[in-house]
Amino acid sequence: MKKVITYGTYDLLHQGHINLLRRAKELGDWLIVGVTTDNFDLERGKMNTCNNVMERIEAVKSTGYADQIIIEEYKGQKIDDIQKYGVDIFAIGSDWEGYFDYLKEYCEVVYLPRTEGISSTQLREERPSVKVGIIGTGSIASRFVPESKVVNSIDIVAAFNPDLKLGAEFCEANGIPLAAGTQDELFAACDAVYVASPHYTHFEYAKAALQAGKHVLCETPFVFNTAEAEELFRLADEKDLVLMLAHKTAYCPAFGHLVSLLKSGTIGEIVDVDASVTTLTDERSAKMDKELLGGSMSENACFPLLPIFKFLGTDYKDVTFFSKMKNGVDIFTKGVIRYDNAVASFQVGLGAKTEGNMVISGTKGYAYVPAPWWKTDYFEIRYEDQNLNKKYFYPFAGEGLRYEIKDFISSILQGSFQKLSRKEMLKMTDVQERYLKGENVFQL
Ligand code: CTP
Repeated sequence: MKKVITYGTYDLLHQGHINLLRRAKELGDWLIVGVTTDNFDLERGKMNTCNNVMERIEAVKSTGYADQIIIEEYKGQKIDDIQKYGVDIFAIGSDWEGYFDYLKEYCEVVYLPRTEGISSTQLREERPSVKVGIIGTGSIASRFVPESKVVNSIDIVAAFNPDLKLGAEFCEANGIPLAAGTQDELFAACDAVYVASPHYTHFEYAKAALQAGKHVLCETPFVFNTAEAEELFRLADEKDLVLMLAHKTAYCPAFGHLVSLLKSGTIGEIVDVDASVTTLTDERSAKMDKELLGGSMSENACFPLLPIFKFLGTDYKDVTFFSKMKNGVDIFTKGVIRYDNAVASFQVGLGAKTEGNMVISGTKGYAYVPAPWWKTDYFEIRYEDQNLNKKYFYPFAGEGLRYEIKDFISSILQGSFQKLSRKEMLKMTDVQERYLKGENVFQL
């Protein structure tokens, strides 16, 4: 039996793919099709696929040409597959002419004619883009704009800052067509809003955007009391809109895999999560201003709360805070969260510095994520028997905001699964609210 193998992403399956698969099948008796995983595509810089790996596998299956479908997840896998499956012919489209000649050592290599005039890239570009308006034009917004350029189907069309001069400068510097004079002018120009304004304004802007029928991506921290969070969720549901938190760690590849790895019992039962985020900041910064709801908890707490909730759930018993204060804001806070069968602790600081790593302890081993764990591309799983230790590496491109932007856009266009649940967003807010109310807060 003559075995043929071919590989591809097969995003938005089109006639070019179908012709290629038919021609590949005609070369032999058994066709194996390798479909790239989402992570592998991210790793090789292809971050704009519209269909996830399951959808792409289903699409290949539906052509009826594949006798066997495998997933391609690492560089160099083609040689392994050819040997493992006893492949006679490696086939690929002529756009790759010459590129795979190194496989000739292992099997016959055939470049098949490519269908002219169609490609996944072209189909992706033809899809309507989500028009996004930005509220708030500070440093995070400046990082957001270039990151959005590598994501498909998004156009930043407008920005608004109540200080119109700052808004105009931001638009000029970032090539954004409209510096909106009012928030209503911004809403009129867009389908979705990125709320990147100071913390204390998040609720009002997010609410106004939802009321105007716009999807919302809200920067961290979300809002400061659960009643406000619930009101926003209700509004989003009523109008069938996406409301997502721009928590970049929640969407980055390494963190996503750490969650699924530990959830599958790799380190046994989790007994402790300990994570820190400290970012030394000038005392005169707005982040340190009491009136603007500044302070370490407001600025950074949602970062350690993410792994704590992912690994231990949101059903905590109580939270205790220890804060070092200056000018009415916490320049450092240590929090301890008690669960029935586990404990978590975190340290956040704007005026004190500590190691920014994360350790998750389990009954069989532990996960170690080096600083800065919240934008990591690497972690280790460690055991008593060091021979069993394993290191994991992932892509973390640019500022890492592209992953949350991609998820926001695909939530709007395809209704895809949200990595941060409403329960988690609500409980992050609950912790902030308890802190602001002074519940179990001990000042040092
Ligand atoms: N292919 C083809 N004719 C086309 C498009 C793709 O024969 N018009 C072939 C490719 O050469 C490859 C296979 O289909 O052998 C899978 O390619 P893939 O990269 O998934 O498709 P593209 O449409 O080229 O995707 P992109 O635009 O993202 O590069």
